[in-house]
Amino acid sequence: MTVWLVACSKGGVGKTTLAVNLAAAQADAGRNVSVVDADPQGSATRWNQRRSEHGHALPILDGRNRTLVRQLPAGAGTAVIDTPAGIGGRELEPFLDVADAALVPVQPSALDIEAAARFLDGVAMHPRVRRGTLPVALVLNRAKPQTSASQQALELLRGWPFPVVAQLRDSQAYTVLTGLGRSLFDYHSMQVRAHQEDWQPLFRWLQRVG
Ligand SMILES: Nc1ncnc2c1ncn2[C@@H]1O[C@H](COP(=O)(O)OP(=O)(O)O)[C@@H](O)[C@H]1O
Ligand SMILES: [Mg+2]
Repeated sequence: MTVWLVACSKGGVGKTTLAVNLAAAQADAGRNVSVVDADPQGSATRWNQRRSEHGHALPILDGRNRTLVRQLPAGAGTAVIDTPAGIGGRELEPFLDVADAALVPVQPSALDIEAAARFLDGVAMHPRVRRGTLPVALVLNRAKPQTSASQQALELLRGWPFPVVAQLRDSQAYTVLTGLGRSLFDYHSMQVRAHQEDWQPLFRWLQRVG
């Protein structure tokens, strides 16, 4: 199984949004994908329950179960792991041990990035990351391209050895669709297609590394 980890110590940065849209994009492309919900708050699980109401539920696994997490690489297809806020250090290790790629969403604000700095330093120190066997990328979420906040954030993020592989725009579409158990990839209107474009560099990066 290819394992994609979505993690950041900071809450509200878009971990669940990133994880569920990523999983739905895989399903939309006809690929075998599971969601692993490691957050006791269960947001990804609730999203999937709503999804089941319109017949598009994805296989979902309980990522709080560490035995199950360790066994993930033996499975088929792709697993996308959504993790809780506040995670770091030893709690993060079982996930970093099994992941084929890790994505860290960050918001374009110096305060948010500074709050995630210890987490990013911890990820950079992990032996698999240091050896280059676990690729890590940053996703700038709720980006407002061309604003000084976004530019300043990109500047700050250069302090870590991780590429910024996508800038996902700030849009109510994410909030509305996630609340309905939907994703950006369930729609094909012009407006949604522009949002989907934001994800293409991330998909290309995952294809290359994961
Ligand atoms: N790109 C975006 N544009 C606008 N709102 C977003 C975006 N990404 C996430 N959100 C909203 O921000 C809030 C936090 O996102 P969420 O994915 O739950 O973060 P986390 O899982 O890191 O706590 C949610 O209300 C979500 O709908
Ligand atoms: Mg979440």
